[in-house]
Amino acid sequence: MFFEQIKYRGDNFTYVVADATSREAAVVDPSFNLDAVIMLLKDKRLKLRYIINTHHHLDHTAGNEDLKSAFNGKIVAHESSILSKDLVVRDGDILKLGDIDIRVIATPGHTPDGICLLVDGKLLTGDTLFVGECGRTDLPGSSPGDMYRSLLKLMKLGDNIEVFPGHDYGDAPHSTIGKERMTNYTVKKRTLAEFVEFMRQP
Ligand SMILES: [Fe+2]
Repeated sequence: MFFEQIKYRGDNFTYVVADATSREAAVVDPSFNLDAVIMLLKDKRLKLRYIINTHHHLDHTAGNEDLKSAFNGKIVAHESSILSKDLVVRDGDILKLGDIDIRVIATPGHTPDGICLLVDGKLLTGDTLFVGECGRTDLPGSSPGDMYRSLLKLMKLGDNIEVFPGHDYGDAPHSTIGKERMTNYTVKKRTLAEFVEFMRQP
């Protein structure tokens, strides 16, 4: 599998995932990194199948239409998303790139349309889980209760699953579920009420 984490401008990460044999590719969260993404797709001669958005915020989606017009991939987002999209996904859905499976895990909380993507032991977490942090839940459409359940769901994954977030906010650009379970203060054991109160604090 070909996998690249791209940070070109600002702190947003965009990801390129591709099947090395068929060269079918997906770009996850194209935004301000678009020039670098387009160069990479051309350089590696990848065939763009999917433009997947972990949620609708502009800093994850600003490159959707330009990328689609350049390479003709399908824009993919959760069924609840307000984004203009060609394909909707739900929890548990699988997107195929050649022999590679990309599994969709619905993780509302930061936004109602939040999804994480699990591909070959790598979890792309958007703005749900960061290295050492979790996404904000004080924005329009956010839900601390949903975030609580989404983080619990992610923490049930295996220790060795690698975490690739939507922003470079931590002390490293990526992590693992095991490391986050041990060190991330937002996923410490709390009741739902305790978590909601915790997220209310500035
Ligand atoms: Fe966001």
